[in-house]
Amino acid sequence: MTSAQIIDGKAFAAVVRQKVAEKVNNLKGAHGITPGLAVVLVGSDPASQVYVRSKGKQTVEAGMNSFEHKLDAETSEDVLLDLIDSLNADPTVHGILVQLPLPSHLDESLVINRIAPEKDVDGFHIANVGLLGTGQKSMVPCTPLGCLLMLRDHHESLSGKNAVVIGRSNIVGKPMAQLLLNDSCTVTIAHSRTVDLPDVVRRADIVVAAVGRPEMVLGDWIKPGATVIDVGINRIDTADGKTKLVGDVDYESCAAVAGAITPVPGGVGPMTIACLLANTLTACCRINNIAEFDELSF
Ligand code: GUN
Repeated sequence: MTSAQIIDGKAFAAVVRQKVAEKVNNLKGAHGITPGLAVVLVGSDPASQVYVRSKGKQTVEAGMNSFEHKLDAETSEDVLLDLIDSLNADPTVHGILVQLPLPSHLDESLVINRIAPEKDVDGFHIANVGLLGTGQKSMVPCTPLGCLLMLRDHHESLSGKNAVVIGRSNIVGKPMAQLLLNDSCTVTIAHSRTVDLPDVVRRADIVVAAVGRPEMVLGDWIKPGATVIDVGINRIDTADGKTKLVGDVDYESCAAVAGAITPVPGGVGPMTIACLLANTLTACCRINNIAEFDELSF
């Protein structure tokens, strides 16, 4: 039995994309500028290929230019760094995203930190991490930004709420915790070594699950009425020999206790790409000194 309100990320993402498209249209009319996003994919990881295709399609639908650079899996670090240098110098490119994970012979930190910080629409460059960590204007990682927008939309205020983020990745867990802290939540970051995780989660008004373990968070871990944001996307085998997508949260049991919950699919996933488009527009406005589209104001 589901009692929780379902937070419809798919519908919310459509609203964000529409606002981005309107602003892009104004930008073209008033300034003759078309925001451009370059996506770099090294190798042929099937999941990454799906994401990159989807990003390209939605970028074009929002009226922006999409530049895709597909490099083979054996590409050397020098060649990849040269490509990033040329994208940094290209005035038609306002956002650069290097799809992760990279093949193991490439140094991810080196590659990410080569991106000009103002074009780092993933918000992974060390300069943006530092700006976010000190509450300054930065590029904000897309998945945590999408989660924050849904939480802000659902709650009048996040101030003083107990938030537990499960997972300490640089892509989701750590920036998510930072964003919640910037919104005056009391934040706990839990991870694989956390002692008595269920008890920690039971104290949370807001739970963000980003561990990559299918259906790990159970209903009896959830404080009644809490808001549950499920960042996980895991493909699992079903009894009838097929596969299905599930989150890091056991949806049925958690939805029976939570006040609100994001579904998988249709929750965080669509918001991530919508936020990437918003970040590309933001980067374009900042680079061109144009009154900014405020991606945090939804
Ligand atoms: N791989 C999985 N998530 C992401 C993301 O948000 N950005 C990039 N660049 N790669 C990813």
